Amino acid sequence: GHAHLPGGDLSGRTILITAGPTHEPLDPVRYLANRSSGKQGYALACACRDAGARVTLVSGPTALSPPSGVRFIGVETAREMEAACLEALPVDVGIFCAAVADYRPEIETAHKIKKERGGLSSIPLTENPDILKSVSRMSGEHRPTLVIGFAAETDDVIGHAEAKRLRKGCDWIVANDVSPGTDTMGGDNNTITILTDNGEETLPQMSKDDVARALVSRIVAAFDD
Ligand code: CTP
Ligand code: CA
Repeated sequence: GHAHLPGGDLSGRTILITAGPTHEPLDPVRYLANRSSGKQGYALACACRDAGARVTLVSGPTALSPPSGVRFIGVETAREMEAACLEALPVDVGIFCAAVADYRPEIETAHKIKKERGGLSSIPLTENPDILKSVSRMSGEHRPTLVIGFAAETDDVIGHAEAKRLRKGCDWIVANDVSPGTDTMGGDNNTITILTDNGEETLPQMSKDDVARALVSRIVAAFDD
């Protein structure tokens, strides 16, 4: 069995987690993507599993191995990620860690685009579905009891993140500063602020594994209320 947290756990809870980037193909050799190692999402999947939850991890392409003891669904594009998430519902908690590509090329071609024809200088794009927003705005039992988004921001990090929480309709948003020099992107550490209806809590810098365990303890507490 897995280790359980003191003071409560997540046994019997179902949790959906998205992680990693999505890749939006343009032609057989090129794609559009956001930067994401997947480390924070995979750490969360492991921490939720260790707390006794039944975890579905929907992940875009990463260099990481699927964690043991979780249901793993590997996807490539935002639309595949959305479909996998909708199929995993209903769940008690949804944690949307993925760095979903905001746009995809309007047309995907089986033919390699050639530079000399100028084919890469203007690529028509179309917006991808917003998975967090559509799950947050679901009604009835399809909406998870607790929906948690992530917001990697620069500049007014807390302001942008709180605006995002309200705009998307999620319950919590986990904000982090990804300005150059903060070392979060791709690294093993993270400094987060958790924004909820009840205000904000900033945690000191810690490993992504410890961030995951800290979030799990907040989730446990939310269900104990
Ligand atoms: N998200 C999602 N689907 C998308 C875009 C984002 O589920 N198509 C989720 C992310 O997983 C994250 C949260 O929404 O939990 C915030 O993502 P972010 O990229 O910061 O938000 P955007 O609305 O895309 O805003 P921005 O213009 O800052 O990129
Ligand atoms: Ca985005």
